[in-house]
Amino acid sequence: MSNRVLITEPIVEDSMDVLKKHYEVTVGERGYYDDEQHLIEDIPEYDALLSVLSNPVSKQVIKAGKKLQIIANQAVGYDNVDVEAAAEAGIKVSNTPGVLTEASADGAFALLMSTARKICAAQAYLREGKFDGWDPVGFMGMELNGNTLGILGMGRIGQAVARRARGFGMNIIYHNRSKVDPDFESELGATYIDTVEELARKSDILSLNCPLTDETRHIINQEMLEMMPDHALLINTARGLVVDEEALAQALHDHQIGGAGLDVFEEEPNVHPHLLTAPNCVLTPHIASSTYKTRKEMGILAVNSIIGILEGKEKSEIPNLIETS
Ligand code: GLV
Repeated sequence: MSNRVLITEPIVEDSMDVLKKHYEVTVGERGYYDDEQHLIEDIPEYDALLSVLSNPVSKQVIKAGKKLQIIANQAVGYDNVDVEAAAEAGIKVSNTPGVLTEASADGAFALLMSTARKICAAQAYLREGKFDGWDPVGFMGMELNGNTLGILGMGRIGQAVARRARGFGMNIIYHNRSKVDPDFESELGATYIDTVEELARKSDILSLNCPLTDETRHIINQEMLEMMPDHALLINTARGLVVDEEALAQALHDHQIGGAGLDVFEEEPNVHPHLLTAPNCVLTPHIASSTYKTRKEMGILAVNSIIGILEGKEKSEIPNLIETS
């Protein structure tokens, strides 16, 4: 009997078609498997799971997945998967790094520029019929050239954001678990900063590009926001939980910082109501990696890891498997 694969919700068609050629595939309804209970109930039937980042692939889900051989998470971040529990159960986990680097950096930069130049507020003003001619003091924003971009998390996406910022004449500083390659540092003129506090103090724009871990959860909190200059902008395309949203909303309302561009939220799809009313706050629905090319490539990468495991390929032939100790 052919292996059974659960794709929790529709992904780009081409990648689903590849799986359907090989296996018996079920595609869930959008959002249905964001409920852990639904996953626990259905997972015992399946040999492979293609999950998305809103699916809680918890210890309980993994325990229920008696036949499960692989969890292919279609995202670079895999904080929604209990990787330790999977390792204990002998279930492989894969993610989709690399293919989304440039699209995600574009997304972060689009948000950064929209926030710096108040694009969304300006558009709303125009659409509301308020544009009454060129205004010498209208919608003045922050110039990128000569200003300092702080990057928290200098992995692949952080580095791609840095390359873009360099092209715009920004100074780059960063904090990361470890310093990046010195050649890359000098190519970008990027300077390592020892602490997140100092990074917050020195950044005109602070871009969050780190994974969500125990160390980064709420790393941007009230204390950190107080350290940021009052003109500073915060851009978050990492994970919502990296930022204490309540504290951020307060900081924006109090004009303690200059603005924020947010693509990710603490409890997606919910957005803190005070963020919705905050001044100079650009909000997008977790779309940083969303280009046709990238979403297709993410799907293919996830699918190939499923095929690799179900067909018994060597680990070395599936480069996007997550290493668990
Ligand atoms: C998106 O947020 C991802 O982790 O791929």
